[in-house]
Amino acid sequence: MKKEVKIVMEVDYNKANGLMTKEVNKVPEYLAARYQSLKDLVADRKVQFAELMSFIENETSYLSTPASTRFHLCREFGLLEHSINVAETMLKIKEILAPELSDESCVIVALLHDLGKAGMPGNPQYFENEPSERQKWAGHPASTPYRFNNDLVYLSVPIRSIYLILQYFPLSEEEVQAIVYHDGQYVEDNRSVATKEEKLTLLLQYSDNWSGFITEEEKIE
Ligand SMILES: [Fe+2]
Repeated sequence: MKKEVKIVMEVDYNKANGLMTKEVNKVPEYLAARYQSLKDLVADRKVQFAELMSFIENETSYLSTPASTRFHLCREFGLLEHSINVAETMLKIKEILAPELSDESCVIVALLHDLGKAGMPGNPQYFENEPSERQKWAGHPASTPYRFNNDLVYLSVPIRSIYLILQYFPLSEEEVQAIVYHDGQYVEDNRSVATKEEKLTLLLQYSDNWSGFITEEEKIE
């Protein structure tokens, strides 16, 4: 039986607290407390996590970007809401199925699995869509609320997530597997991981699907 490798680092609480970001104050009230209490669960790598989140919150569109151009949570703060939903779902099911896994790992992979959707610093993946002249004339909104930014080097969302995270933060092998393969067998490229998934990967895949297909669908009127 393989053991989960835990990365424990020295914690300088003053440094971590000093890295609180201004941008986070813009998060709407219905998400802010949930988001903060999830981040507070990262304890062993607290300083590195604060550094990573300071970069993500201040330099990328992670906090405010939608979760998609026209599907689930295609609205401002949609990606953040989705990430919070996934993390909360994952903590619930891991408590029952795999309490030996750390809350910290669950929070990291759940909050950051779709970070790639934020694009790159100064170059977001999604732009708000403007209605065409014809749509404006007819008084109609744009056909999709957001559009994809084609001016980004092609990377799949999970690969961009990993690229951004690893510049600031040490991930365990299990965390890398969970983020890279979080779409599971919905994606052809993921065939190589079939039957080799770690518990963290399976929990993230299920929580992501549950949030996207059930929690977030039920809220749509
Ligand atoms: Fe997701």
